[in-house]
Amino acid sequence: MASGMLFAMLLMNKAVAGTFMPEQGTDIARQIDDLYGFLIIVSFISCAILIGGMIYFAMKYKRKSANDKTAYITHDTRLEVLWSVIPLIIFLLVFAWGWIIFHDMRTMPKNALEIQVTAKQWAWVAEYKNGVRSSEIVVPVNKDVKILLASEDVLHSFYVPSFRIKQDAVPGRYTAVWFNATKLGEFYVFCTELCGTSHSSMVTKLKVVSQADFDKWLITESEVGLLPIAQRGAKYFQTRACASCHNVNDAVVKVGPSLYQRWGKASVQSDGSKVIFDENHVRESILLPQANISAGFAKPSPMPSFQGQLSESELAAIIEYIKGLN
Ligand code: CUA
Repeated sequence: MASGMLFAMLLMNKAVAGTFMPEQGTDIARQIDDLYGFLIIVSFISCAILIGGMIYFAMKYKRKSANDKTAYITHDTRLEVLWSVIPLIIFLLVFAWGWIIFHDMRTMPKNALEIQVTAKQWAWVAEYKNGVRSSEIVVPVNKDVKILLASEDVLHSFYVPSFRIKQDAVPGRYTAVWFNATKLGEFYVFCTELCGTSHSSMVTKLKVVSQADFDKWLITESEVGLLPIAQRGAKYFQTRACASCHNVNDAVVKVGPSLYQRWGKASVQSDGSKVIFDENHVRESILLPQANISAGFAKPSPMPSFQGQLSESELAAIIEYIKGLN
C-alpha cells in the first residue's frame, strides 16, 4: 500500500515536472523538479484531506433542529499527536531533501572549467582562459563549469531556467555558480534583477556542445585577430554588446538609433544641430555617449561609456564595420 502510493507519487512527480517546468539541462535540475513535484503533490493531498474533511463534517454534524444536542468534545490526544507528528516528519524530510540539493549546488567542484562572466547594462560577456571574449556562453557537455560573476555597473542576476540556477552579479565583488550540463543544445540566460531600461533584453544563449566542438570553437574564436578589419569589427559589435541596443539590418530603432545606412549622412542631434556621421562622430559617440544624443532619444543616454574598454584597434574595427552597413 505504502510502496504503491510512493510509486504513484513518483509517477505524478514526473508528470508535474514534465508539464510545468522548462527542459532539464542538468542533473541538479532533475533533483530540484523531483523535490518541487513532491511539494506540489503533498500540498494537493493535504488540501484535499483538509477541505474534504471540513465539508464532510459540516454536512454530517449540521445542527438539524433547535434541541439537537451534540456531544461536548474537548480534545483527542491520539488525533492531535497524529496530525502534528505526520506533518513534522514531512517538513523535516523536505528540509533534509532541500538541504542536500542546495549543498551540492553551492559546493564548487574542483577542476571545473572556469569562465569569467561579466554583466553590464545590458549584456553578458563571457571570457575564457585563452582570452576569448564572447557574448554567448559556450560550454562542453558533461563537464563541471564554474561561472565567476562580476558586474560593471549595477546588480544583475544570472539565471538559466533549464539548469535551475540563479546567482546575482554584484558590483564590487565576485560571486560564483556552477553546473554540469548533461544535454546538448541551446539554453536561455536571463537577467532576473531589474537593472534599467533594457533589463528585459539582457538575454543571451548558453550553448552546450561536445568537448571536440568546444575545443574547435575556442581556437576559431581566438583567431578573430587574424580576420579582415570589418569582420573583426562585426565580431566586437556582438561581443561588446553594441548589438543589443543598435540595429544593423534595417532602420528599426531598438534602445539606441539604428546604424543601418547612416554612414556619411547628416545626423540630427537632440539640440537640433546636425553632424556628419563619420569616423570621429562614431568614435565620440562610443567613448562619450552623452556628447552626442540623436534627436528623439532619451537624455541622458542609457549607453555606458566605452572609454578605456576598447583599444584603438578595436575601435577602428567597429567603425570599419559600421561603414560597411551602407
Ligand atoms: Cu541586468 Cu536586469
